Amino acid sequence: MSQARIVPSILSSDFGNIREEVKAVVDAGCRLVHLDVMDGNFVPAITFGHATVSMLRESFDIPFDVHLMVRDPEAKLDLFANALGSGSDSPGFRDGEDNIITVHQEVCPHLHRTIEKIRTYPHMKAGVALNPGTPVSSLEAVFKDIDMVLLMTVDPGAGGQPIIEDALDKISQVRELEEKKDHKVLIELDGGIKPGNLDKTRDADLLVMGSAVYSDKNPETAAANFIKVQKKLDQIRLALLGKCVR
Ligand code: DX5
Ligand code: ZN
Repeated sequence: MSQARIVPSILSSDFGNIREEVKAVVDAGCRLVHLDVMDGNFVPAITFGHATVSMLRESFDIPFDVHLMVRDPEAKLDLFANALGSGSDSPGFRDGEDNIITVHQEVCPHLHRTIEKIRTYPHMKAGVALNPGTPVSSLEAVFKDIDMVLLMTVDPGAGGQPIIEDALDKISQVRELEEKKDHKVLIELDGGIKPGNLDKTRDADLLVMGSAVYSDKNPETAAANFIKVQKKLDQIRLALLGKCVR
């Protein structure tokens, strides 16, 4: 079992100080940061676009996890892929590290084509996000082309919402689909993940955390939160592994 990881989302960070907010968690050992792109259309809020992603790429040699909460994401893929750069533009990448671009199933009428396009970019994984009301079965026909399934555990569009616990049932549904299709994916949970509900995240691989990491718009606190919560997750998963072995 590879290590489950906390993936800080800068949505709740101080946008006037984004570089320092990201630097704090990177210096604390974080190797994947979640970037929530909202277009004011698929979701009501507007956050930032490819120019901000580009600025972060120039500042940090780590992979980014770009969550596109936008309509017609296929038309915007080139912009974001170029902003993320290729592996050769990012010499600090470690073995096996890739950027991730995730699109929402709900806005992709040509989902297979969209996923294929993401996979043509160098050092890029293709993710598909499912809103709480969207079933896992909607991915059956394209599952073998997906690298990551992002399970929304809140309705997309804002940080700081309470988790919808029933959405966690989809973790085992995705694992069943893995067996059926003989294809492994990463599972990422996004929304309402807190230190107090980490024990409910079962065997999900990546846990996005916005407000719980960036709790008071202070980089030092973000770093301390990240370290604390990753340690707690490691302990929980280790205990779980112990129970399985016994
Ligand atoms: C919500 C975003 C999340 C958000 C999570 O639509 O996709 O990534 O940052 O924030 P918290 O962890 O505060 O629920
Ligand atoms: Zn997100």
